Amino acid sequence: MIRLELISRLLLALMVFAVAACSQPQEATNEAATDTEVQPVVFVLPDDPGDDDGYSPIKTYEPMNIPDDNPITLKGARLGRLLYYDNRLSGDGSRSCYHCHVVDKGLTDGLPQAIGAHNKQLTRSSPTMWNVGYLAELYWDGRAKSLEKQARAAWTGGNMGAKNFDSVIAVINSIDAYRTQFQAVYSEDANVTNIPKALATYMRTIISDDTPWDRWQRGDESAVSDGAKRGYNAFTKAQCATCHSGVLLTDQQFHNVGIGMDAEKYDVGRFKVTKLDQNRGAFKTPTLRDIVKSAPYFHNGSVVTLVEAVKLMLAGGIDNEFKDDALKPQDLSEQELADLLEFLGTLSQDSNLGQAPALP
Ligand code: HEC
Ligand code: HEC
Repeated sequence: MIRLELISRLLLALMVFAVAACSQPQEATNEAATDTEVQPVVFVLPDDPGDDDGYSPIKTYEPMNIPDDNPITLKGARLGRLLYYDNRLSGDGSRSCYHCHVVDKGLTDGLPQAIGAHNKQLTRSSPTMWNVGYLAELYWDGRAKSLEKQARAAWTGGNMGAKNFDSVIAVINSIDAYRTQFQAVYSEDANVTNIPKALATYMRTIISDDTPWDRWQRGDESAVSDGAKRGYNAFTKAQCATCHSGVLLTDQQFHNVGIGMDAEKYDVGRFKVTKLDQNRGAFKTPTLRDIVKSAPYFHNGSVVTLVEAVKLMLAGGIDNEFKDDALKPQDLSEQELADLLEFLGTLSQDSNLGQAPALP
């Protein structure tokens, strides 16, 4: 912690001006680089990456699992952050990663199902980015085993549409400031391996651990209302915490809760990865962090409001052949339901991601 403070102070001293962390984020555009009104954001890792105990941005949780060939560094995270906001990374220049993982939508995009570059209609809803660095398996079906693999897939696949990534890499390398930073971090120019590495490094810094609920859990009784406290009890009583468990609010397991199973050709979800029948229609338990902002809900965005989504879960999901037995109908009073919703409202915090960076 002490080293973190030192780093922050150093950074603050080095920056000519700081930007209030709570200012509204803006969609990154390439024009931003030339706009003198846009001020650099002070970007500080949530913890000292060089910490001997490993990178542990959430103190009440285990260190993050980071691949040996992509150590986390401040330089790498800064570079990844620029790339994450840069439309030029997409196949048609239309989108950045941030486009679909926006702060005021709880790091999702507000659409039922995302629309990728080249206006490609995708089949699933954008999940939140909070604490993704802690997830062992990425995507709703867990098909990506590391953030590096996930970032490469999102970039070169349907989301960003950079199937012909060579031309995108050439553009990145034609920008001096990018080349210098790639050389500084990876001792080589940008390529198809280190671009996803930088993106992964940045994503590992997207941390939520200071919501009112977290502060209450750490002992601050005044951090949440009495209603929210009762709501947390209702959440536990209704067995929600079986799957939405721990500080991440997910067990990182895959369950069929019945969403989308009535479709003629339903999304098989986890089955595609494991080929196990019990995984048909099963999806990863999503965290509930920032849930009040990330409507619409579920992997296919089929439920518009949070109260509907909660009621559906309280009803025990939607019956089908493969439904997980762990999800049972629960009996909560109207008051308990209202309290539960109040508790869910305590899972958001002011974003610490800053505004969109000025791109090189
Ligand atoms: C067009 C919208 C869109 C864009 C652009 C986009 N994403 Fe996503 N993102 C999604 C959707 C939809 C999913 C879920 C896909 C699935 O599960 O099959 C997703 C999933 C993810 C996940 C997995 C989260 C989890 O909980 O498992 C990460 C991490 C992620 N995106 C990062 C990125 C990065 C990095 C980029 C840029 C290279 C990017 N996204 C660009 C829509 C988008
Ligand atoms: C058996 C595990 C399990 C239990 C128990 C459970 N959930 Fe979930 N929850 C999931 C899974 C899996 C999803 C995603 C399903 C999908 O999209 O197909 C989900 C999705 C949600 C969503 C939508 C999240 C989003 O980002 O779209 C909300 C809200 C939610 N659950 C709340 C609850 C509440 C409240 C309870 C208790 C009444 C509960 N859940 C109990 C596994 C569970």
